[in-house]
Amino acid sequence: MKEFIMAQQNGRSIPLEDKIFGISRLANEMIAKKGREAVTNATIGALLDDQGKLVVLSSVVEVLRNLTPEDYAEYAPIGGTPEFKKCIKEAAFGKYKPNCFTEAVATPGGTGSIRNTISNYSKIGDQILTSDWFWANYSSIAGEIGRTSTTYSLFDKEGHFNITAFKQKVDELLSKQESLVIIINTPAHNPTGYSLTLEDWDKVLDTVEFAAKEDKKVALLVDVAYIDFAGDGDKYREFMPKLENLPSNILPIISYSASKTFTLYGMRCGAMICMTPVKEIAEEFVRVCQFSSRASWSNCTRASMVVISKIYEDSNLLTKVNEEREFYCDLLLKRGKAFEEEAAKVGLEIVPFDAGFFASIPCDDPDTICKKLQEKGIFVVPLAKGLRVSIASITEEECRMLPEKILAAMK
Ligand SMILES: Cc1ncc(COP(=O)(O)O)c(C=O)c1O
Repeated sequence: MKEFIMAQQNGRSIPLEDKIFGISRLANEMIAKKGREAVTNATIGALLDDQGKLVVLSSVVEVLRNLTPEDYAEYAPIGGTPEFKKCIKEAAFGKYKPNCFTEAVATPGGTGSIRNTISNYSKIGDQILTSDWFWANYSSIAGEIGRTSTTYSLFDKEGHFNITAFKQKVDELLSKQESLVIIINTPAHNPTGYSLTLEDWDKVLDTVEFAAKEDKKVALLVDVAYIDFAGDGDKYREFMPKLENLPSNILPIISYSASKTFTLYGMRCGAMICMTPVKEIAEEFVRVCQFSSRASWSNCTRASMVVISKIYEDSNLLTKVNEEREFYCDLLLKRGKAFEEEAAKVGLEIVPFDAGFFASIPCDDPDTICKKLQEKGIFVVPLAKGLRVSIASITEEECRMLPEKILAAMK
């Protein structure tokens, strides 16, 4: 019998419970029954310390504690406070100074910028494009606002970025759509940990430039949610100059999130930043995105904007925040290396990994393997094409222990 729901389905597939939060709940239930030592919860998309506590940068908390009531109680301007709009660009671009027009619009986390990009740069009914390993929320957001998503195969047989598959999909979509939103999550992609190389970027941009004839419009959304936990910030921003001064019908939009960078996950802060050689396109970007913001969440949390502005106003404070983050970034990188090394040692195939919060294992029947692992107190997330392990939420020791256990469950 068809499921009856009082609400309107509107083409969406709405699960009874969010998959990841559901598995995490099971992990917590097992912890309550058997104790913390009996459980490895590798489902959480946040950085936890080796004691399983959420990492919160104390230098950021200090600023937060000193806010005045007006700093958090007053409405913020729809597009963000002027100070925030300036400093969030500095945060996103780092030392790189773009030689093009850039405008920032505040959004509630990176999520808001994904939503605003899809709603303003694709038509209702369009398909948006991302890779076959992808953050599930991309397709939920598309479905929520009357679009759908489609994918290209991220890797070729040699484990390199699959430019042939990317080109095929871009050509196919642009032959039937006037506009196309492409989402590329790099560096430290969720769920694989892959980062596009500079050569990958050249190929991607050549492909898009070639495919986007003058009557077509392409928004290239670069989701850099994990950029400040990938490693050397300058190195991981080297691709950015390639985005300036593309043809005016290709609009790069950087989706920047304060959730991970400033450990402000719950404060819902981020920004979408456009890069274009045309001033009018940048001005229009602000106008249309602010309009969408107003019509969905209105304005964003002022407190988080003030916190980040205060950090950027004071170079000593900024250094303190960056140093504190670096410590935790190193911790995360060590966990990633441990997982990668151990997987190679025991012969567990993993998806090409570079850095970040997650690593993935390709496999058939991920749901069954996840259930088997749960019996052993190991909780990972089943995806369409394999398993996602959050190395951000487990210790280095657990990272070393997991590959063998996963391999055993797969056999
Ligand atoms: C790939 C990716 N993009 C964007 C986000 C946005 O997160 P937030 O809205 O908390 O900034 C996340 C969070 O999990 C993510 O994994």
